[in-house]
Amino acid sequence: MKPTRRPVNPCFSSGPCAKRPGWSPAALSAALVGRSHRSAIGLAQCVEVIERSRALLRIPADYKVGIVPASDTGAVEMALWSLLGARGVDLLSWENFGETWVDDVVNHLKLPDMRHLGAPYGRLPDLSQVDTDRDVVFVWNGTTSGVRVPNGDWIAADRKGLTICDATSAAFAMRLPWPKLDVVTWSWQKALGGEAAHGMIALSPRAVERLESYTPPWPLPKIFRLTAKGKLIEGIFRGETINTPSMLCIEDALDSLRWAESVGGLDGCVARAEANLAAVAAWVERAGWVEFLAEDPATRSCTSPCMTITAPWFTALAPDARFATSRRMLARLDKEGVGYDLATHRASPPGIRVWTGATVETSDVEALLPWLDWAWAEESDAAKAA
Ligand SMILES: Cc1ncc(COP(=O)(O)O)c(C=O)c1O
Repeated sequence: MKPTRRPVNPCFSSGPCAKRPGWSPAALSAALVGRSHRSAIGLAQCVEVIERSRALLRIPADYKVGIVPASDTGAVEMALWSLLGARGVDLLSWENFGETWVDDVVNHLKLPDMRHLGAPYGRLPDLSQVDTDRDVVFVWNGTTSGVRVPNGDWIAADRKGLTICDATSAAFAMRLPWPKLDVVTWSWQKALGGEAAHGMIALSPRAVERLESYTPPWPLPKIFRLTAKGKLIEGIFRGETINTPSMLCIEDALDSLRWAESVGGLDGCVARAEANLAAVAAWVERAGWVEFLAEDPATRSCTSPCMTITAPWFTALAPDARFATSRRMLARLDKEGVGYDLATHRASPPGIRVWTGATVETSDVEALLPWLDWAWAEESDAAKAA
C-alpha cells in the first residue's frame, strides 16, 4: 500500500544537499548583491563566514581558515598542488572521491614516491599501514560508499608528514580531530545545505610552514596560489578571497551557519545526523531487502549511508540491469514527489543513498523509508509480471 505520510522536504541529494528547515529565498533578502566583496561591509561578511565556521567546527585558533574558489574540489586541488612533493605520500581511497585525488597525484603530479592504499566499496584500507611520517591524502567520509574513518587514532600526534583531509561530507556532521589534521577542506553545499562553487580550507601551522619552506617544481595557476614570494598570502585568511565570490552565496552561508548555531552548534548538528542514521539503520534491520554497503558498523556514514539491494532476484541480474532496476525503482519516488536524488553515485554499486546530514529532519527520513519499501514492492511485482 502506498504510504500516506510524505516527507515535508523530499530533498535527499548528496550535493547540493537539502537546505536548512524553513529556508526560502527570502533568507537572502539582505544579501549584498551589487556590492564589492572588498568594500568594508563585503569583507566583513567574508570574515564572518570564516569566524562562524571556525567557532562551529572548533578549529584551533592557530589554524588559518579561508574561502577559496571552486568548491571543495578547488580547496583539495590547491592543497595537493601547493604542498605535495616535499616528501613521500600515502594515498588512501575506498570510493570515487578518494580515487579522484589518487588519480590527480598519480597521473598528473606524477610524484616519484607514492603508495596507494585502496579498498573496495564498503570497506576501508588497512589504516595501520599508513605511515604519517609521509604526507597522507584521504577523505574523512567517502560520500559515494557511505564509509567513513571512525576516528583519527591511526594518525601519529608527532608525525612528520602532513595529513590532507577532504572533509566535505563530514564537516558539520562528524567530529574532526583537529590536532591530527593539517589541511581540511569542505564546501557549503554539503552538510550546511549552502550553495555550491565556494570552498573552504583550514591549514595547521605545520601546513603553513610547508607552504613557506617548499616550492613545488610545477607551475601553479593564480587560482591555486596560497603564497607569494615564499610567504603565505595572509589576506586569503582574512576574507580577502583570491577572486570574486558570490555575495548571494556568502549571505546564504551565513544563514546556514546561524541555523547550525541555533540547533546547538556542532553537538546539535552531529546529533541530528546520527539520529538520521539511526532511523535508516532501524529500517535496514526490518526491511529485509537492503543492507548497508559499509560492512563495519563503526564506519557507517551519518551523512551519506549507502544501501545495496540483497533480494536474490535482483542480485541475479546482470550489472547493467541492476543499475536500471534500482534507478527505475527510485524514479517512482521522484514521480510521487516524496524522495529525490536517492540513487547511489554512478561510480558506486547500484543501490540507494540517502543524504542524512544535519539539515535533513529525522521525521522526513522516517517518512521516506516506507516509500522505499513501497517502491521496492512495486518494482518486484513488475519484475515478476514481466
Ligand atoms: C568526498 C567529496 N569530495 C569532493 C567532492 C566534490 O565537491 P564539490 O563539488 O563541492 O567540489 C564531493 C562531492 O560530493 C565529495 O563528496
